[in-house]
Amino acid sequence: MHYRKIGTTDLYVSVIGLGTWQFGGEWGKDFNQKEVDAILNEASIQGINLIDTAECYGDHLSERFIGDYIKRHQREDWTIATKFGHHFHQPFERTRHWKPEDVLKQLDQSLKALQTDYIDLYQAHSCTDEEFNNDALWTMLDKQKQAGKIRHIGLSLRENDAPYQVKAANEVGISALQVVYNRLDQAPEHEIFPIAERDQLGVLARVPLASGYLSGKYKPGAHFDSSDVRSHRDKKEQTRKLQAVEEIRKTEVPENTSMATWALAWCLQHPAVTTVIPGCKNPEQVISNAAASDLTMVSTDHPQHVNQ
Ligand SMILES: NC(=O)c1ccc[n+]([C@@H]2O[C@H](COP(=O)([O-])OP(=O)(O)OC[C@H]3O[C@@H](n4cnc5c(N)ncnc54)[C@H](OP(=O)(O)O)[C@@H]3O)[C@@H](O)[C@H]2O)c1
Repeated sequence: MHYRKIGTTDLYVSVIGLGTWQFGGEWGKDFNQKEVDAILNEASIQGINLIDTAECYGDHLSERFIGDYIKRHQREDWTIATKFGHHFHQPFERTRHWKPEDVLKQLDQSLKALQTDYIDLYQAHSCTDEEFNNDALWTMLDKQKQAGKIRHIGLSLRENDAPYQVKAANEVGISALQVVYNRLDQAPEHEIFPIAERDQLGVLARVPLASGYLSGKYKPGAHFDSSDVRSHRDKKEQTRKLQAVEEIRKTEVPENTSMATWALAWCLQHPAVTTVIPGCKNPEQVISNAAASDLTMVSTDHPQHVNQ
């Protein structure tokens, strides 16, 4: 496994992280602690040290699974990134909460769920510009940093090509961005990545497998169960993406290489990208995703090109 520093922080993270929206139960499967333990154990074996979770992957449910595991292992071996800004009500239903006093409550609930006294990267979860323009919020978060509850502040972008918040990130104390970036969605390359590189912001590439489509296992017209978030998405757009995947598989993926592994290595070619955080549902997917680190020729701070 290769490791890189997130922006100007002191966080050295594996270039392959672990996305855990899945643990919240909105991906066609309810998880139990044993299954989560198996995934986290495999991540540890593979050298993965970055976990991305959120307040609303279930009502702090994903965080609780992770916290239960972490309390039985070494907290300092892991970099935990979580998020704020929402309350979970039921699958696929959240409300937005950005007042500083509410975010402070969310922070304390996340710390309790994660069974830890600090969060490594605390990310604003898809805020609008209006929600972002709130000095009281950033002041409150800075106080929590000083109190040791948060090590660094991040911003998970709501829109993939809207640079307003990215331009202001340094001013409000943000050290890292989370953006949708994958072979099918390259929008951040235009405006967001150049600013991130200029301002030394770390970049966590989320949805790096285009919600699993870039694994190559789904054909156009694929059906998803109603308990799977993918069944709630635009069908035409899904078909368009799956057709593009067929073409990419034929023309770009080297023979004898798993498409999912290739797709993650593809993201890591961009010099602005620090790490990718594929969501995983079982230890086999963790192993396959971790293998992308070997497909990339990366030194600690200077990502280079995919080695095919
Ligand atoms: N607003 C935000 O901040 C935000 C939004 C979205 C995501 N995220 C974060 O980013 C993470 C990743 O995004 P995502 O989970 O939406 O999408 P993703 O990583 O592109 O796709 C995840 C899905 O791909 C499939 N998969 C994973 N590894 C695979 C492998 N090796 N081979 C075959 N299939 C594989 C799994 O589903 P199947 O096996 O069922 O196909 C998995 O649920 C999330 O878990 C979350 O932590 C954040």
